[in-house]
Amino acid sequence: MKSNTLMKLEDQYGAHNYHPLPVVLDRGEGVYVWDCEGKKYFDFLSAYSAVNQGHCHPKIINALVEQSKKLTLTSRAFYNSKLGEYEKFMCDLFGYDKVLPMNTGVEGGETANKLARKWGYMKKGIEENKARIIFANGNFWGRTLAAISSSDDPVSYKGFGPYMPGYDLIPYNDLNALENELKDPNVAAFMVEPIQGEAGVVVPNDGYLEGVRKLCDEYNVLFIADEVQTGIARTGRMLATDYEDAKPDILILGKALSGGVFPVSAVFANDEVMLCIKPGEHGSTFGGNPLACAVAKAALEVVIEENLASNAEKLGAYFRNKMNEYISKSDLVTLVRGKGLLNAIVINDDEKSSTAWDLCLKMKMNGLLAKPTHGNIIRFAPPLVINKEQLDTCIDTIISSIEEYS
Ligand SMILES: Cc1ncc(COP(=O)(O)O)c(C=O)c1O
Repeated sequence: MKSNTLMKLEDQYGAHNYHPLPVVLDRGEGVYVWDCEGKKYFDFLSAYSAVNQGHCHPKIINALVEQSKKLTLTSRAFYNSKLGEYEKFMCDLFGYDKVLPMNTGVEGGETANKLARKWGYMKKGIEENKARIIFANGNFWGRTLAAISSSDDPVSYKGFGPYMPGYDLIPYNDLNALENELKDPNVAAFMVEPIQGEAGVVVPNDGYLEGVRKLCDEYNVLFIADEVQTGIARTGRMLATDYEDAKPDILILGKALSGGVFPVSAVFANDEVMLCIKPGEHGSTFGGNPLACAVAKAALEVVIEENLASNAEKLGAYFRNKMNEYISKSDLVTLVRGKGLLNAIVINDDEKSSTAWDLCLKMKMNGLLAKPTHGNIIRFAPPLVINKEQLDTCIDTIISSIEEYS
């Protein structure tokens, strides 16, 4: 079927909860995707950083195929022959006592919130139903009722109330505001993204995460890092929190944990926190399934074997340098920011304008797919397997598209 027909089908029979760029993708390999008419594009979104290892990575797909022939799902009613080995691998790699496997990123966030509340009641001595969790303005951790209850974006929360109590917001990148809140003994946790992806790749000051760590220690509050988007080498380290002395008490991973093959998420903590949840108190039919274990282990091995973190660090710095050189002469683009290969440009226009969208259409015509995050911001997050030659081609495409648009 042709792309136009397929878009019409989605429009007619699918809920209108997304506004996709008008391109119908049919195939992917590495940094490339192809539409139904065979046109080839660079993928500069990577499914919101889920495809860090590149599309259809052979090692990950092989793990998927081999395991799917053997055993896919047992539920946690029984042990399975993949889970324990996977959990050990994960705990050794990320340095925690225990891991709790889930599926989507938002389930990871939900799990972290439940763990924090339980710990607050059992260990910190917070009175039942009084626990608070603090978030930062601009946070995004998914679309469930709990996740939107902590959101300050009306597009996310408006019309879906009533909201989850016990959630409060402070400005991002503001340690004084955090300290003020942490003084309240009812605060169980502060949950934060090391870089705010959906808010438009907002990078906090150096030292912020370390400051969060210190304050959480001082006030006996759990530091939850939502690394669903920033984790798995995206920002130039395996974790974005690795840049500082800022190891979180609870770490949430998702997206690229499966290389974009299917939903796999994980929540890490040490025993003091993780063992607060007892059998029957939390779980998921699919969480920890053998297929997910095989796929996620292969996906992490790819990140390590192919040095994707250092590639992201090196090529990310190169990308920002090149873009900065260009934008010093551009009226349309005012700023490039990011870390590793999680970057964004800010368009010199207000949030309501269609400039960023139109520029994405122009880049699409020129063979590169990216999407605005918030009105006037375009995120650039290619698969981390991209090489310098490919990146140079992409930089040329981005710049010439801006020129054509200006
Ligand atoms: C930081 C962060 N946390 C959580 C999520 C939610 O992940 P999922 O869509 O897999 O539920 C996202 C998704 O974009 C995210 O960026």
